Amino acid sequence: MNIDELRSLFPQTAGKVYGKPLVYLDNAATSLRPLPVVRKWEEMSLKYNSNLHRAVHFTAVAATEEYESTREAVASFIGAEFPEEIVFTSGTTQSVNLLAATLGKSFSEGDEIIISAAEHHSNIVPWQLLKDSNKLIIKVLPINEQGELRLDLLPSLLSDRTKICCVSQVSNVLGVVNPVRKIADTCHANGTLLLVDGAQGIPHVETDVRRMDCDFYAFSGHKMYAAPGTGVLYGKKHLLENLPPYMGGGEMIESVSWDKTTFAPIPRRFEAGTQNISGVPTLKPAIELIKQMRDSDLVARTSELKDWMLETMASEPGVTLYGNPHDAENKISLFSIAVDGVHHEDLALILDKMGIATRSGQMCAEPLMDSLGVTGLLRASFAPYNTMDEARYFVESLRKAVKMLR
Ligand SMILES: Cc1ncc(COP(=O)(O)O)c(C=O)c1O
Repeated sequence: MNIDELRSLFPQTAGKVYGKPLVYLDNAATSLRPLPVVRKWEEMSLKYNSNLHRAVHFTAVAATEEYESTREAVASFIGAEFPEEIVFTSGTTQSVNLLAATLGKSFSEGDEIIISAAEHHSNIVPWQLLKDSNKLIIKVLPINEQGELRLDLLPSLLSDRTKICCVSQVSNVLGVVNPVRKIADTCHANGTLLLVDGAQGIPHVETDVRRMDCDFYAFSGHKMYAAPGTGVLYGKKHLLENLPPYMGGGEMIESVSWDKTTFAPIPRRFEAGTQNISGVPTLKPAIELIKQMRDSDLVARTSELKDWMLETMASEPGVTLYGNPHDAENKISLFSIAVDGVHHEDLALILDKMGIATRSGQMCAEPLMDSLGVTGLLRASFAPYNTMDEARYFVESLRKAVKMLR
């Protein structure tokens, strides 16, 4: 597949704003939607609309098959051993909340949780809520100046009370790929579980949960081209089997009586109520597309674009790039910058008028912004359908916007 073929699958890449071609560089917030995903959603809505797992009629069986075959496709995509290890959620946020609410029931006063300093609020706040209710202690794993996790400090943070360590595979602000396997090994040697937030990792990094050896892995469909309102919590089978239910309701039970209710086996124990019938199956064409992109020379092109952006942003006068790891391999095409004397939001507003969609502000990572000593940043996040011309246009436009504001 070449870049033109890829772009033709994403009609918004040919879109215009204010009469100018849209340059969409806000992919870390949500990716654009490709036609095969929209078509699958349409097919599920117009042809196979029926509730899941319940009725015996043709359409219900067809919809259920679509849903369950998606579970198999996701399991195979992320290297899970069993499809039952895949729990469908509405996104990363719900995945982490599910885990905190269920696993957290076994945490008692004085137990400890380690969270990296570079986490999105959705991998902080659910644990803080648990901390308050169960009187826990949260410890923070710091980052260095390049935005890399201080793994050297991890052993000193771990104790015999550390129940879980929570890190992102890739930070949504720094774009740095974290050495998850090393973190898993250190945690496991201490008897501590590891949750990896894969929201930014899954679209960019080949992910194998067994190779990473993480205990839990969370991600969102909408950041990897699938429908919004879809997501996954992966958990090792023996761990999920020992978790209590999350929400109560239809389909998550085995039997209900006034005296005693028993619960369905995993994963349905965690999927109460009517699920995202049309959305979940869109993960299948999204996965197929990611695989196709990885099998084509788009990977080399994306990496060329990343290297050019990295070099340009790191050497641009007056620009500070946050997340510039020692090894460029450990960086995705995501660039968060501060520009001397210019407010990030003013920049984003001017870039918008030039047709460029970026993100500005705290990016749901306020503690990280505090530790970087900034009130917010400007972020340009690329996807494989972005072109080198778009990258150059971004840089030229940034320079113009800075001149206008100074
Ligand atoms: C690293 C990271 N974790 C979690 C989330 C939350 O994802 P969602 O809003 O899809 O639940 C995001 C969203 O930006 C993210 O970038």
